[in-house]
Amino acid sequence: MKQGKLTVFVKDLSTGYLHVKTTIILSLSVLLLLFVLGMFIIGHTTKVLSSEVYFIPQLKTFSPLTANCTSHAQCQCNFSASPQLLPISSLPNIRDYIAPKELWHSMSDEELIWRASMVPQVTEYPYNRTPKVAFMFLAKGKLPLAPLWERFFMGHEGFFSVYLHAAPDFKNEPPESSVFYNRRIPSKAVEWGKATMVEAERRLLANALLDFSNERFVLLSESCVPLFNFTTIYDYLINSNYSFISSFDDPRGTGRGRYNRRMWPTVTLSDWRKGSQWFEVHRNLALKIVSDVTYYPIFKDLCQPPCYNDEHYLATLVSKVGPGKNSNRSITWVDWSVGGPHPATYGRQHVTEAFLNQLRHGFDCTYNGGISNICHLFARKFHPSTVEPLLKIAPTLFGFNTDNITTTK
Ligand SMILES: *[C@@H]1O[C@H](CO)[C@@H](O)[C@H](O)[C@H]1NC(C)=O
Ligand SMILES: *[C@@H]1O[C@H](CO)[C@@H](O)[C@H](O)[C@H]1NC(C)=O
Ligand SMILES: *[C@@H]1O[C@H](CO)[C@@H](O)[C@H](O)[C@H]1NC(C)=O
Ligand SMILES: *[C@@H]1O[C@H](CO)[C@@H](O)[C@H](O)[C@H]1NC(C)=O
Ligand SMILES: *[C@@H]1O[C@H](CO)[C@@H](O)[C@H](O)[C@H]1NC(C)=O
Ligand SMILES: *[C@@H]1O[C@H](CO)[C@@H](O)[C@H](O)[C@H]1NC(C)=O
Repeated sequence: MKQGKLTVFVKDLSTGYLHVKTTIILSLSVLLLLFVLGMFIIGHTTKVLSSEVYFIPQLKTFSPLTANCTSHAQCQCNFSASPQLLPISSLPNIRDYIAPKELWHSMSDEELIWRASMVPQVTEYPYNRTPKVAFMFLAKGKLPLAPLWERFFMGHEGFFSVYLHAAPDFKNEPPESSVFYNRRIPSKAVEWGKATMVEAERRLLANALLDFSNERFVLLSESCVPLFNFTTIYDYLINSNYSFISSFDDPRGTGRGRYNRRMWPTVTLSDWRKGSQWFEVHRNLALKIVSDVTYYPIFKDLCQPPCYNDEHYLATLVSKVGPGKNSNRSITWVDWSVGGPHPATYGRQHVTEAFLNQLRHGFDCTYNGGISNICHLFARKFHPSTVEPLLKIAPTLFGFNTDNITTTK
């Protein structure tokens, strides 16, 4: 073929019609080229106009955003949301990961627990970390003994965090100056002796775990009082090598008698423990509690009244997941001597220096392997009317001043 064409061309050259033929061929070629070009442009324009990528040229030209668009709506970007144009202070920084700015959130319990179960693998903190004690109040609503707690915390900012789990319909917000201001966590209804009680405890722990500086976690009720000043309590808890979850084997009907055989073999009768609900745990143990997916479903299912989740779940769990790390005693004093399902409540007539000193120093126990006469840091149950006599006694007892505290009667 090639040779044939060449032959024709050479023949043309030789025939003398060269000029005319060349002009015709050139003209035809230009026309053909123009036609092809025209078709291409028309085809391309039609394609662009009808295609989904219509917005992309615009975005590439005008938007400084690097974000990926998954829909047209998202692609019509808002320039003010562009990372380059944000002030430095609103860019994500380490503080966003250390602790949430707001306690209130929209996470479900499942999402919260998952989020709280995360542990950094780099054990050196890239910031100055002061270990804090998380004081977690599990209450119905307003704390009647709040004035005493306010005074207790005063001057120790940075060493503690407060969390409040209250009834969902509780709306009262204390003044901005209060340590309880904005410290409520998203809460659900709690029924005495039911699994909802342990759920509330896990919810408190999970919320408190989101603050990476919280190292100790204390559960308190609205009728709890501190028996020492803040420094003493802080040092006692931070320096302790053990958590304080009351956990013991009770051979009676109200102990072993509540064991359900269907828990076997995950939980055996010899694993079964009883204990008081009001605990104090180290961060490691708090993480194990919120991450537990082995024992919790079994307790939720198979420990129902007259078996009480809050008296058996943590006591048994700790003997399984951290036996060497627990003192097995509670840090919160309570009087069960009256018998019955509820402990004794103390009224204003009981609040004397002698009585409180008895609670502070009248016991012997093990602390970090040695013997101590400080065995309880908190006590319950104290009636709301005790707030006044407690505030009066506090200066001498706790070594702090309450001169300018106003109590609300
Ligand atoms: C955008 O998304 C695609 C796939 O969805 C991905 O391959 C690409 O890396 C993403 N680009 C950027 C800048 O995130
Ligand atoms: C752009 O963002 C600003 C602030 O974030 C907002 O007020 C504004 O309504 C947004 N505009 C559009 C078109 O989304
Ligand atoms: C606490 O009890 C567990 C058994 O449940 C035991 O292994 C552990 O040694 C006890 N801890 C202390 C400090 O006695
Ligand atoms: C507590 O634990 C630390 C570190 O694990 C250890 O150095 C210290 O000796 C322990 N103290 C007591 C009293 O057991
Ligand atoms: C706290 O109480 C202890 C005694 O328990 C006392 O030695 C100490 O001075 C008190 N601290 C403050 C700041 O009041
Ligand atoms: C009393 O109030 C003042 C001013 O509010 C405060 O600075 C001080 O710490 C308070 N003192 C005591 C002992 O509560």
